[in-house]
Amino acid sequence: MSVGAVAWHGAGRRIHLQEVGPRDGLQMEPAFVPTAEKIALVDALSATGLPGIEVTAFVSPAAIPALRDAEVVMREIARRPGVLYTALVPNVRGAERAIESRADGLNLVMSASETHNLANLRMARAQSFASLAQVVATARGAGVVVNVSLSCAFGCPMEGDVAEAEVFGLVQRFADLGVGGITLCDTTGMAYPTQVARLVAAARARWPGMAFTLHFHNTRGMGLANVLAAIDAGADRFDASLGGLGGCPYAPGASGNVCSEEIVHALQLMGYDTGVDLSALVAAARRLPALIGHGIPSQIAQAGARLDLHPVPGDFEAIR
Ligand code: COA
Ligand code: ZN
Repeated sequence: MSVGAVAWHGAGRRIHLQEVGPRDGLQMEPAFVPTAEKIALVDALSATGLPGIEVTAFVSPAAIPALRDAEVVMREIARRPGVLYTALVPNVRGAERAIESRADGLNLVMSASETHNLANLRMARAQSFASLAQVVATARGAGVVVNVSLSCAFGCPMEGDVAEAEVFGLVQRFADLGVGGITLCDTTGMAYPTQVARLVAAARARWPGMAFTLHFHNTRGMGLANVLAAIDAGADRFDASLGGLGGCPYAPGASGNVCSEEIVHALQLMGYDTGVDLSALVAAARRLPALIGHGIPSQIAQAGARLDLHPVPGDFEAIR
């Protein structure tokens, strides 16, 4: 799949993408995707060159029935060396299940917004933090990598703007626990490029040793613009979802994540190195509608890459 000449902008700079389609992408799907199909999806993603895949979530099966098969999926995927297989966990029970199922890394989740934390996790933020502090200790004992995802870091669909001080207060508390990775999540697509640039620059300046990941949703069409603004502000780690699926069922108005193949396509054109095979990714995305029973937001799955040329219309010679 050809995108054309590489522009100077990225100059080969490595951008690290974590695929969250099997987790964020499937968590809100109304029809249950059979376990074997989930495993096949992760295995296909493993073959694309993606360095990390969030495979599933070890949450309450009553809260997220779509991922009630987390153990089987995590255990039965074919592990490819060099790929980090992670899982979302909200509490100690989730961490224990994930570690038993041989997750390489845990993605701890809580919200920067009190209201969204209560809606999504049925806990106050203080309670979530206390529970996640225990998870950090458990993971350390098990030798498992930990990252913390902070939902609603760019705004909450129920509270509105979330103060930077709220977000950074939580980053500091997790940094104090020795956590080395934080994901700033735009759970319902409220982030906009100048806000992203400001928050990313401030976060990187304050915690230069922290690995910050950005997690955007394209709910208001600003997903790719936000990715580019974050890169310009120094970010180099992003979550993205195959086909542009995704959304939190406990965040009103949530819709799809930024689309993995759209980001790989755009970044490749601009001279960044994602290490991902675009053709393999698009092929996997084009299999999604059969899996989930409806269309996908991905523009690239529909249109193809920039230089996937179309045949000349049949009557062209007559008018030349
Ligand atoms: N995995 C599986 N089961 C779990 C669990 C976990 N991580 N955590 C709790 N449970 C079970 C408990 O064992 C209990 O089961 P029982 O009724 O059979 O005794 C039941 O869930 C209720 O436990 P409780 O601690 O009272 O949890 P809760 O009902 O207050 O829910 C969460 C709290 C965090 C478990 C739940 O809100 C959740 O899983 N949320 C995740 C939402 C999500 O994934 N959103 C999208 C991603 S951001
Ligand atoms: Zn999300």
